[in-house]
Amino acid sequence: MSTQRSTDQQSKRRIRIFDTTLRDGEQAPGASMKPEQKVVIARQLARLGVDVIEPGFAISSPGEFNAIQQISRELHDVEICGFARCMKEDIDAAVAATRDAARRRLHLFISSSQIHLDFQLRKSQDEVIRVLRDMVAYGKQFVDEIEFSPMDASRSSEEFLFRVVESAIEEGATIINIPDTMGYAMPEEFGPLFSRIRHNVRGGDKVVYSTHCHNDLGLAVANSLAAIRHGVTQVEVSVNGVGERAGNCSLEELVMAIQTRGDAIGVETGVNPEHIYETSRLVSRMMHFPIAFNKPIVGRNAFQHESGIHQDGLLKNRNTYEIMDPEAMGIPRSMIVLGKHSGRHAIKHRIAEYGIQLADEQLDDLYTRFKSKADEQKIITDDVLLKLVSESTDSFLE
Ligand code: KIV
Ligand code: ZN
Repeated sequence: MSTQRSTDQQSKRRIRIFDTTLRDGEQAPGASMKPEQKVVIARQLARLGVDVIEPGFAISSPGEFNAIQQISRELHDVEICGFARCMKEDIDAAVAATRDAARRRLHLFISSSQIHLDFQLRKSQDEVIRVLRDMVAYGKQFVDEIEFSPMDASRSSEEFLFRVVESAIEEGATIINIPDTMGYAMPEEFGPLFSRIRHNVRGGDKVVYSTHCHNDLGLAVANSLAAIRHGVTQVEVSVNGVGERAGNCSLEELVMAIQTRGDAIGVETGVNPEHIYETSRLVSRMMHFPIAFNKPIVGRNAFQHESGIHQDGLLKNRNTYEIMDPEAMGIPRSMIVLGKHSGRHAIKHRIAEYGIQLADEQLDDLYTRFKSKADEQKIITDDVLLKLVSESTDSFLE
């Protein structure tokens, strides 16, 4: 295993990033946005380099329809995905809202787990098959690319799941998205499911595979990577991992896992990491969704180092305690936070940045003052540190 920042440029399988921040992400309680805000985020997603944007659920409101329409009209370098239940009115709305997109697809879904059939759809397995066949065929009249999702796939019986997928393919679905709707799957069982579908379903070797993982057990990224290992070439994600309940697979985590360790599985994405931080902040602001301090990649503490041992190592070579370059993701220069765990070396280094050099004896004095201050407050800002320097210097003049 290497912690090198550079990735070698051997030929790698390209993973397409399908962003559902504006559809599934917006389903997070309290996250809904105005149509103009959705358009702003869609522009940023295109700048970031995602391959597909799912801008919303057209049937849900006139504002939603208009936002999808505007995004479809404006963003021509990215594929736009309409989203619909297996119902004619949903499909008509999704098709109409995305009509002006340069490239578009239609995403249809219906549940395949028995618990959803019994309590949510109240349909038999045969009825589900009939509805999905009719609706995939209906949608296919309008668009070439149909993405089909068996909802709650990971909790479905494999026998029925295979039947559902085979029926969708027979009616013209070109992309099969297998969701872990409840975030229930484990990587070692979820990955191989894709291989079994490909081998057991008629036509299963002719379609593109995608995955869509929720994060209820904190496994969304791990499950998505497991799916990639088993041939998936599209992953559905959201910025900051926003989405229903514990959210969706986080775009920035998946992209940076691939960027940092993609060599291990021979894959890459087309996302430009430089825009990750600004995209994350924009989505957080617009959705009024704060980001946890310790959130990987974009959390406040993700590249901050307080422990003296870590700070010392970093000052000598950043690779000692950083596996990614924060600046490559547009994150302001990795800050060394000074606090009670900081050592003399870090303090000396920080004051040197202000052009201050102290004799050993004076540095000892500053260090003692620093430690007692750090016991009182969690973080020693530069202002406080400079005040301590003055106090120390004054004491030597007395
Ligand atoms: O979580 C889910 O199953 C979904 C599908 C509709 C793709 O969001
Ligand atoms: Zn979902």
